[in-house]
Amino acid sequence: MDQFDLELQNIRKVYPGNTVAVEGFDLQVQRGEFISFVGPSGCGKTTTLRMIAGLESITSGTLLIRGQDFTHVPTEKRPTSTIFQNYAIFPHMTVRENIGFGLEVRKVPANEAAKRVDAIIEKLQLGDVADAKETSLSGGQKQRLALARGLVTEPEILLLDEPLGALDANLRKSIQEELKVLQRSLNITFIFVTHAQSEALSMGDRVVVMNAGRVEQISDPFELYTRPKSSFVARFIGRNTLIEGAYQGCENGLARVETPFGLLSGRPSFDPAHISAQTGVSFVLPSEFITLNADPSGADHQGLTCTVGSLHRIGQIVRISVRLPDETEIEVESYAENTANLNLSPGAQVDLGWNAERATVVCDRP
Ligand SMILES: Nc1ncnc2c1ncn2[C@@H]1O[C@H](COP(=O)(O)OP(=O)(O)O)[C@@H](O)[C@H]1O
Ligand SMILES: [Mg+2]
Repeated sequence: MDQFDLELQNIRKVYPGNTVAVEGFDLQVQRGEFISFVGPSGCGKTTTLRMIAGLESITSGTLLIRGQDFTHVPTEKRPTSTIFQNYAIFPHMTVRENIGFGLEVRKVPANEAAKRVDAIIEKLQLGDVADAKETSLSGGQKQRLALARGLVTEPEILLLDEPLGALDANLRKSIQEELKVLQRSLNITFIFVTHAQSEALSMGDRVVVMNAGRVEQISDPFELYTRPKSSFVARFIGRNTLIEGAYQGCENGLARVETPFGLLSGRPSFDPAHISAQTGVSFVLPSEFITLNADPSGADHQGLTCTVGSLHRIGQIVRISVRLPDETEIEVESYAENTANLNLSPGAQVDLGWNAERATVVCDRP
């Protein structure tokens, strides 16, 4: 049997006062994988991370690290290290002392500790500030110090809870890249929590989308973006329009949905054998694949007639906001040259077209 680096089996967390924070959480992580947890505030990301770290007890379920049961093992005996958003740097200690502290706690002999601290200072380019204290560090240096502290104990699994949240956008981008490179060079497993979908998608080998304590979907970023499995994921990730309707069965691998705007087809994200006709489903239309046409064309045409709302032109790109008959707004982007023959004045009718293969049909009750 394959041994995973980390495995969560049916993990559940109930806080005192009966708050169910996490339920039915299953996850299998390979050695060296970069996993992002993403979801709205309060969905249970931090709680799950803290249970993996042993900072929070597990109400039920099993936590395995490299095949060994760690469900009830105390935090200091786990091969994990945690980095928090506020970094928790000791203000009275220098950078070097901050990094060495974790080794002192673990009673690593002084000469061995000094060697490891030096190595990590070099790796994370903290040499210039090794003897400085927190107040004289920049945002990026604090971030690297937090990483150095996490890595110096040589964990198997590094847990990061919104570690870039305190940084401005530019620094965030460059540290995201550094972090990715570092993770590859160390070949250790990262579990990275964020509430930002773009960060989750750009960082993760796989992304776990959470909603109200439960896992909605675990997929690689491309699959997650192009093939959502639930209406929650379709709304949370990407730029999708959802149209509710009644399932009418499959034909040529495409699910047909009766909607207020006619029959629409898309790839089903569910097993058609498990869904009966007339079940409520959602048709998911990604903005990226919509084209604008002057009028409906061809018998196999998939499309919707909309009303032009507003129009913004940014160089070669035109961003058009259109409205469905029920007033749902859709943002469509197009190259200016592709819209030359269209009447896009506000109030004009325009036809939206797409390839049915690019649309997805999701069912929330499979
Ligand atoms: N120590 C606690 N005691 C009671 N409830 C908590 C505690 N920590 C978190 N919660 C609740 O558990 C749920 C999940 O919280 P959390 O894991 O912090 O979510 P996230 O990190 O996704 O924002 C929320 O409803 C939150 O209010
Ligand atoms: Mg949190």
